[in-house]
Amino acid sequence: MKMADVVVGVQWGDEGKGKLVDRLAQDYDFVVRFQGGHNAGHTIVAKGHTYALHLIPSGVLYPQCKNVIGSGVVIALDALAQEIAPFDNLQGRLFVSERAHLILPYHQMLESRQEAQSAIGTTRKGIGPAYQDKIGRVGLRMGDLLQPKILQEKIATLAHLHDTSMLENYLHTYAPTIIPYIADTTRMLWEGVQEGKRILLEGAQGSMLDIDFGTYPFVTSSTTISAGACSGSGLSVKDIDKIIGVAKAYCTRVGNGPFPSEEKGAVGEWLREKGHEFGTTTQRARRCGYFDAVAVRYACRLNGCTELVLMKLDVLDGLEEILVCVGYEKEGQTISHMPHSLEGVKPLYKRFAGWTRSADACHFQDLPQAAQIYVNALEELVGVRISAISTSPKREKMILR
Ligand code: IMP
Repeated sequence: MKMADVVVGVQWGDEGKGKLVDRLAQDYDFVVRFQGGHNAGHTIVAKGHTYALHLIPSGVLYPQCKNVIGSGVVIALDALAQEIAPFDNLQGRLFVSERAHLILPYHQMLESRQEAQSAIGTTRKGIGPAYQDKIGRVGLRMGDLLQPKILQEKIATLAHLHDTSMLENYLHTYAPTIIPYIADTTRMLWEGVQEGKRILLEGAQGSMLDIDFGTYPFVTSSTTISAGACSGSGLSVKDIDKIIGVAKAYCTRVGNGPFPSEEKGAVGEWLREKGHEFGTTTQRARRCGYFDAVAVRYACRLNGCTELVLMKLDVLDGLEEILVCVGYEKEGQTISHMPHSLEGVKPLYKRFAGWTRSADACHFQDLPQAAQIYVNALEELVGVRISAISTSPKREKMILR
């Protein structure tokens, strides 16, 4: 039975996955985070409250929905405790995998030192160092918090590698809040599949930040593509049905690293202001530019996207001309595929006429002619059906095709 659908970003993150998942979650029994940590973030406004979600899946606002933080996620206990606090009671609705790894105070300190050496422009949440310990087979897992003797032994081993002086106090302060949520989430999801429950796997960051296939080393430290939805939850590829890619109608990136279609002038400024392109987690101004069809086509292939949702089309309203990157010039050659390094690559553009007022449209046919031409061209260039288009931040505003 294919009971699980995946939502993934197909650019450099911040594609608007939050709005889409928030909309979709009402139709699912489980919403699952499968990678990353509190480097991700989106804000949801519901019932007069503003919730800043970094780790807790977006299904938390729907009472029928069980929310799982899967095995592939790295968790800072203090960050999770802070996020749980505004909710009355999440027991029975939030489950944290016993296999998920912990981000510990020294991971954040280590990252500050690493960033001083070679600036990736990370969110400085300790994500990379926590995954380093996981891969190095010395990480602490959530399940260890349930076994005090084993935990002590592991901490003793860690003391040879890290400054663990603050560790006991840290765990003592925050672990009691989180322990009631620790569960065998993989078995829970398997049972869900068996019972015909619907599962939504919510990706964080974007495909171009994937540890293997992104713009390495300017990437995050997890598997952000759909393959990570299985390794980060315990579901198998046979359980997956739809793979929904999410892209903005233009492109942004936060942090350092190559971004061939970046616009550093007036157009970039326009997109940043009109699109409110400032980070939810770090408040950093996002770098802005044109839609890169080469990158999105590559990402859609990596993910196996069955459909694509296009966000923030209205931000382009009012631009006289809109460019789309359709190829690259690399070392004097024209290429239309993603090279292993984007360093020194120049974008090759196709030009489209602009439009005004896409935001009023409720149906595809109501969009300005030029906007329809633009969307159809993106679909053709990327090779995946665009199933929905968002022209407003409002949850209910989505043009379905
Ligand atoms: P890290 O994930 O904090 O290690 O950061 C690595 C890179 O991924 C940096 O360029 C970050 O700006 C970027 N990044 C991490 N999380 C997000 C996100 O949620 N949206 C966009 N970029 C992100």
